[in-house]
Amino acid sequence: MHSDNKEREKALIMKFVIPKLPFVLSLFLSLSLIVFFFVFPSTFLRHSLFSSSSVVAADEGIRIRHGYTSYEAYIQHQLNKTQNPKLRKVWTTRDWDRKVRVFSTFFQRLSERGFLSNQSKALSIGARVGQEVAALRLIGVMDSVGMDLVPRPPLVVRGDFHAQPFEAETFDFEFSNVFDHALYPEKFVGEIERTLKPGGVCVLHVSLHGKTDKYSANDLYSVKPLVKLFKRSKVVEVRKIDGFGLDTEIVFRKNKNRK
Ligand SMILES: *[C@@H]1O[C@H](CO)[C@@H](O)[C@H](O)[C@H]1NC(C)=O
Ligand SMILES: *[C@@H]1O[C@H](CO)[C@@H](O)[C@H](O)[C@H]1NC(C)=O
Repeated sequence: MHSDNKEREKALIMKFVIPKLPFVLSLFLSLSLIVFFFVFPSTFLRHSLFSSSSVVAADEGIRIRHGYTSYEAYIQHQLNKTQNPKLRKVWTTRDWDRKVRVFSTFFQRLSERGFLSNQSKALSIGARVGQEVAALRLIGVMDSVGMDLVPRPPLVVRGDFHAQPFEAETFDFEFSNVFDHALYPEKFVGEIERTLKPGGVCVLHVSLHGKTDKYSANDLYSVKPLVKLFKRSKVVEVRKIDGFGLDTEIVFRKNKNRK
């Protein structure tokens, strides 16, 4: 009698509860995802934007990936990606048109917002094979050049963004989507501010949500620590973008007065 009941109970469970498990499970999983994506970033943002101690927030907002034995080891690691023949093949063939098209849309918008013009002298930092430079020239910014550890004439010249090979106050416009590769973010930004003309514009595409790779040298979690690195510029625009894994566009303008 007793065991009969148990059997029936078991059968009922098998019949009604088990088949529903996948549904309940997927409901649970999607709910957790929703909770994660909507609740977590907003509390995170609130915390980093309104934290009373900016030093703590800055420390929380950027993390440098230590572990290189020397600066040469870091450069060698970066070169491994930039020189990778398979990647370079992809970048110059099936990647090329799509990238040039998307970058030219970004640059066209920036020119409509008054941050860039046909007369601008422009630099792309960490330009790899030169897609951004091709995009700049496509929309009429002819005096544009790229810089990377590996040159690719005529679009890209050799240079390390920690020590740009340019005179002070050379460019009207600088663009980069490789901030995450900077081992010394303060040098990366310092060099931009040195080589920008007074009133010049710097546009960075960054990831605030950890979509970086093994060649990244830092992880950024909010715009605040980045803004703090710019000593002679003001933020003029921040917006969400969909830029090849990078989610945020930040526009800085260097102060007009020299001090
Ligand atoms: C670079 O790649 C080579 C071979 O692909 C490897 O032996 C070397 O350890 C790599 N160096 C770094 C710093 O990643
Ligand atoms: C350059 O000039 C052309 C023709 O006037 C214009 O269509 C284009 O938008 C300009 N480009 C930029 C970057 O302002």
